[in-house]
Amino acid sequence: MSSKGSGIGAYDTAERRWAGVGPYYAMFPAAFADCVVKRYSDPGDTVLDPFAGRGTSLFSAAVQKRFGVGVEVNPVGWVYAQAKLHAAAQDDVQERLKAISRSAWRFRAETERLPAFYSHCFSGPVLAFLLAARAMLNWRRSKVDWTTAALLLVNLHGKRDASLSNQMRQTKSMSPQYAIEWWHARKLRPPKVDPLEFMERRLAWRYAHGRPTLCGSRVFLGDSVRRLPALAEQGEIEARLLFTSPPYCAVTNYHYDQWLRLWMLGGSPEPRTVSGSSRGRFWNSGAYEHLLRDVFAKTNELLTDDATVYVRTHKRELTYTITRRVLREVFPEKRMRTFSRPFTTPTQTSLFGDVPDDTGEVDLILKP
Ligand SMILES: C[S@@+](CC[C@H](N)C(=O)[O-])C[C@H]1O[C@@H](n2cnc3c(N)ncnc32)[C@H](O)[C@@H]1O
Repeated sequence: MSSKGSGIGAYDTAERRWAGVGPYYAMFPAAFADCVVKRYSDPGDTVLDPFAGRGTSLFSAAVQKRFGVGVEVNPVGWVYAQAKLHAAAQDDVQERLKAISRSAWRFRAETERLPAFYSHCFSGPVLAFLLAARAMLNWRRSKVDWTTAALLLVNLHGKRDASLSNQMRQTKSMSPQYAIEWWHARKLRPPKVDPLEFMERRLAWRYAHGRPTLCGSRVFLGDSVRRLPALAEQGEIEARLLFTSPPYCAVTNYHYDQWLRLWMLGGSPEPRTVSGSSRGRFWNSGAYEHLLRDVFAKTNELLTDDATVYVRTHKRELTYTITRRVLREVFPEKRMRTFSRPFTTPTQTSLFGDVPDDTGEVDLILKP
């Protein structure tokens, strides 16, 4: 899945500029999300996404006068979604960036203590700035801070002349040793950018048309297995559209692939895979099936009887077969239609997936 704006006018409104926050593995293209929300729900309806990622479905719902409600377990996806749905004012973010910049000198010594990867990836001033941001941003609680964090994450790595880092993919963080060798072979040094000035320019672009006009929507940071029952208990949500894309089985590890951005949010300075009970969920087919069954069964409690269930997933055998089986079991009273969506452009999955990717995606639509 990819999310490029296309054609003249692709970024001519605040909604379109903010829809692109931020690069995330297997994200919905914004235009696709807009079409699904428009077709399968009405203004005033609630749209539920238990695997919200960067919040594309929720944002699309909120732009189109629906209420988005979602859950995302990965802090990177959550910060993007939260910033899109509840963006702070430009002046406040600018002030926060200035405060970070003023404090950066305190973190110079700490730059020396990081693994070698960091000094190959970022210049000294950028690294001190990032360490200050990492220490100062209370991104879980403060609107200004989750907005600032999201915009930093968007620009953390990417093309050498268009991000804070040495040359790197924008969507997926590379493994440290691979990256060092790659830069060394090409004699690529980290770009000498002034981080404050760079971020201010990025801010000016993002806010050029202001902030999006949205219907109140919510995204929760956490595991849907636990969060959905809590939402059901409150008894406030009756969604008419369940619109989601579950994780793919044995294709990607959302934590490992985002390790550098997770470090920015206070995580380990080294890549880490998901730990504990979550780890097996995407690699062991039994655990994967259990996760999907558990989550979809719990969404059932939050849907109206006439709700549409729209699931986009990968067409690879395991992911597709399991998802289809689970949906049939959980929603036996609904009629399922299946549409193949071959990839027309290279996707993150085909570029970076750990398995060959030659089958595209599939949409499973269930209606009463
Ligand atoms: C295919 S991605 C969704 C991408 C999303 N449609 C977008 O546009 O960004 C699947 C997401 O499910 C999340 N996820 C996996 N297990 C979860 C769980 N138990 N609870 C909540 N989110 C989960 C992953 O972190 C990942 O972000």
